[in-house]
Amino acid sequence: MALLAECSLAERDLIEAPDDGLHAQFRCDVLTGLARPQKVIPARWFYDRKGSELFEEITRLPEYYPTRAEIEILRERCGQIAADVGAGRAVVEFGAGSTAKTPLLLDCIAAASYVPIDISGDFLRESCEGLAVRYPDLPIVPVEGDFTHPLVLPKTVAGRPALGFFPGSTIGNLGPAQAVDLLRAMRATLGEDSMLLIGMDMIKDRSVLTAAYDDTAGVTAAFNLNVAARINRELGGTIPVEALRHRIVWNDEQARIEMHLEATHDIAFEICGRDFAMRAGETIHTENSHKYDLRSATQLLLAGHWQPFAHYTDSQNRFMVVLARAREEAITA
Ligand code: AVJ
Repeated sequence: MALLAECSLAERDLIEAPDDGLHAQFRCDVLTGLARPQKVIPARWFYDRKGSELFEEITRLPEYYPTRAEIEILRERCGQIAADVGAGRAVVEFGAGSTAKTPLLLDCIAAASYVPIDISGDFLRESCEGLAVRYPDLPIVPVEGDFTHPLVLPKTVAGRPALGFFPGSTIGNLGPAQAVDLLRAMRATLGEDSMLLIGMDMIKDRSVLTAAYDDTAGVTAAFNLNVAARINRELGGTIPVEALRHRIVWNDEQARIEMHLEATHDIAFEICGRDFAMRAGETIHTENSHKYDLRSATQLLLAGHWQPFAHYTDSQNRFMVVLARAREEAITA
């Protein structure tokens, strides 16, 4: 706790450009997370260049079904989704558009405009360039910002009913309290009469779930280990990456897959002048991936000030896309 306060105060003076702020946040999250009894690194730090490339590779693995299942839903249920959503909405995507999913949605509904929100200007520019070519008549208004807090939408889209789009089961990275906070922030950003289309991975056979996060080609292991390598690269750390191994746990009580980095023997290392040690078998908890059924998804959305309205699943019932309406009681977050 003391470390967190000290570190955020010290870093505050350093924040000038957004990138410096991001770097400071990374440093802060790593130093505080690794000082805890159960070491933890927030999953958002997986996605540097290398990590994003590895994640792309994960989505093509035979064991990793969520991406294919969600794409199947958007493609096969397009007619029903279009009917349920209606025409003329501003599509507000939380995260820079995914090249595979965003066009499926934009092809399916008659959107008035497209507003991707991402903390990384680079990712935003890249995805917008591709979409602008594909949809020359669609106003595209990228917003560089942190969507975990309520944002003011650009004038061109404010006043139109919005459709939030949050694919990929990214919500699953968050525990219930954080997920509810995020859903409420989205509700505040999108305003009255808005809807939300959100992808959520479903609870299923344990062996299917664990295989999806422990593929035989070792790509998920490389993805997990990359966060340790990133700490060494960007924060000047001395983590002996070869002494860490990828470990998957199914936490049945909380219905989530956990990813850990486990020390194969006792190790010691340094990050930003601070010393850390791990005993053999000790882990760094790097990711949670929560799984849902329709009831738990409904509870979460209701708590987040959203009323589920329809849901769509793939042919094997592995993944669901839920459409929800903004609830009236929550004008502010
Ligand atoms: C991007 C959060 C949806 O939880 O399945 C994939 C990330 N981690 N393999 C997930 C991930 C390991 C992924 N999400």
